[in-house]
Amino acid sequence: MWNIARVYLPFLFCFPFILCQHESVHVHSNAGNIIGFANTSSFKSIMYNVNNFLGIPYAEPPLGILRFAKPVKKARFTQAFSAIQYGPACPQKAEFSQQWIPGKPMISEDCLTLNIFAPAHAHNLAVMVWFHGGAFVIGQSSIYDASTLSGFGNVVVVTVNYRLGPIGFLATDDDTSKGNYGLWDQHMALQWVHDNIASFGGDPNLVTVFGESAGGASSFFHATYPPNKGLIKRIISESGTAMCPWAYSEKATVGRYSKLLGMKLNCSVTTNVELVNCLRTKPFEELIANAQVGTKEDELYRPEWTPVVDGEFVKQLPPDTFLYPETMFSEGRATLADLDLLIGINDGDGGFITMVSLLPLVQSKITPNSTGLDIIDNYVTNSILTDRFGATVDLLAYTMSFVYTRWSETQTNNTYLQKMLDMSSDYQFFMPAKISARAHAKTQSSGRNTYMYLFTHRSSYAHTIPWAPGAGHGDELAYVFGFPSSMQQGLNFKDTLQLDEVSLSEKIMTYWTNFAKTGNPNKPRAVPLIWPKFDLNSEYYMDLNTGLSIKSKMDATRTGFWTKFVPKALKGVHNFHKSDSSSPPNTNTFVPSSVLG
Ligand SMILES: *[C@@H]1O[C@H](CO)[C@@H](O)[C@H](O)[C@H]1NC(C)=O
Ligand SMILES: *[C@@H]1O[C@H](CO)[C@@H](O)[C@H](O)[C@H]1NC(C)=O
Ligand SMILES: *[C@@H]1O[C@H](CO)[C@@H](O)[C@H](O)[C@H]1NC(C)=O
Ligand SMILES: *[C@@H]1O[C@H](CO)[C@@H](O)[C@H](O)[C@H]1NC(C)=O
Repeated sequence: MWNIARVYLPFLFCFPFILCQHESVHVHSNAGNIIGFANTSSFKSIMYNVNNFLGIPYAEPPLGILRFAKPVKKARFTQAFSAIQYGPACPQKAEFSQQWIPGKPMISEDCLTLNIFAPAHAHNLAVMVWFHGGAFVIGQSSIYDASTLSGFGNVVVVTVNYRLGPIGFLATDDDTSKGNYGLWDQHMALQWVHDNIASFGGDPNLVTVFGESAGGASSFFHATYPPNKGLIKRIISESGTAMCPWAYSEKATVGRYSKLLGMKLNCSVTTNVELVNCLRTKPFEELIANAQVGTKEDELYRPEWTPVVDGEFVKQLPPDTFLYPETMFSEGRATLADLDLLIGINDGDGGFITMVSLLPLVQSKITPNSTGLDIIDNYVTNSILTDRFGATVDLLAYTMSFVYTRWSETQTNNTYLQKMLDMSSDYQFFMPAKISARAHAKTQSSGRNTYMYLFTHRSSYAHTIPWAPGAGHGDELAYVFGFPSSMQQGLNFKDTLQLDEVSLSEKIMTYWTNFAKTGNPNKPRAVPLIWPKFDLNSEYYMDLNTGLSIKSKMDATRTGFWTKFVPKALKGVHNFHKSDSSSPPNTNTFVPSSVLG
């Protein structure tokens, strides 16, 4: 509301009918009549006419008994819905919202809305549905003004709010409240797009889901959920996949956190029914204020409120099913195989998360007798290996330390920071992306494509962490959306951007929207450099920088360590298999079926 108020308050007589400034646009959809407005956006001095429809509710308010439950489809509008301002953000800490959007944050539990950006006179265009990032605890669609991407790329873009934190992902360790409400919200939004987007000029059979961080991970959860067949055709995953350690948990783990939350709020935790009923009576502000229930060590790799294996939306723990896609339940594998995938990471993706989680932990353990490097070699190695594989042995920790030592470089006081960053980044982002790309390339149906990128441009305006070089987590977002003013405060870029950065944005928007249209980033619009497919032999990827280049086999030795060496070394020592998840693994292949305790 604030942004419209800010622009239009001088015209008080018109408010809230901003239509005296912007021509209104009426759409008759299956969901009812919706009134948006015409606006313009410009990129490289070209003006685009784009219709905006903001804050459309796609589900009934998830309140009362619907808290901690699947969303309910929104009833058809009986009178025209005025889609002229963003809906509120889902409950989260206000500080984050304020970093991006000035003024008093608008937060409400009644937050399940989506926004549509469609070129004027759109007809049957490719559709791109955006799921924002924020570790499943923060974020909101209003940061991502997609007018420029829509106008420049001639695509319909939809951005979506979904439930976050304990409101979105609380789960009991039984069937009382199964979790994943945020994913169910997203699924309902995809269904809404399928049913209604034709009225806005989109092609319901040409939908690409794209997202960053938790949104990238979400795209993978959708890619293996069979009822999404027919709703989505391709996915773009930026800096996040379902097998990132921060993107999923076992139900028992979130069940434990849910009880801790209940105890903090004086709820009886004797039974899960009592727990959930009590938590439903608490104001959302109390749930958010008390959401941090884990210990420092708990939170190191795994935030509390994430998607869980519920046996329904998520049938298997992601890491091994992506490492060994042949063990994925067959319908899920078929769903993934039938999509085109464009996936990538930023070379500095791990910097921020390492700085705020692993670094303080490591520093707290440094003593006169124990250097930073000692902590990395003895503690961090074992801790990461155990987190990933459920067990480890000393020899593997030594080997990990060996693999991550830059033997040709002289040791300095910063060596331990570098080593910690390399381990953490691989674990949190790089290996999951690489393994997910391989899983898709391995299983894809004929005619389907896999593409991979590494975004390496350090923006002129980037916040810097001295020991973490490269492009930070989220740095590609402004380029994907064509530097919208809605991101200016959060990312700190200037009105006077460097020309080569604007040009990189143009290239990325071209590749992304080409991919949405054809499954191939190289057509229909001409591109400056042909992006070759990623396949298991070449492992080609695009280095996205102000100068583009094609490379292959990203981090090959370290990939070998995680995907071949460790599983093989642990085979004789530890039986990975855990019978937590539903479908039995294929016993013909060597499978450390699972993991993660
Ligand atoms: C119209 O577009 C301009 C520039 O893209 C933007 O600053 C403005 O907020 C938009 N107006 C509304 C009402 O969203
Ligand atoms: C829980 O109960 C204690 C003791 O009665 C009280 O001091 C505290 O404020 C309560 N906390 C909440 C969140 O209601
Ligand atoms: C460090 O090592 C010295 C000598 O071995 C020992 O006396 C001292 O207690 C140790 N300090 C700590 C904090 O472990
Ligand atoms: C490295 O650390 C040692 C011990 O803390 C310190 O004496 C030295 O000045 C540091 N060197 C540099 C280059 O910072």
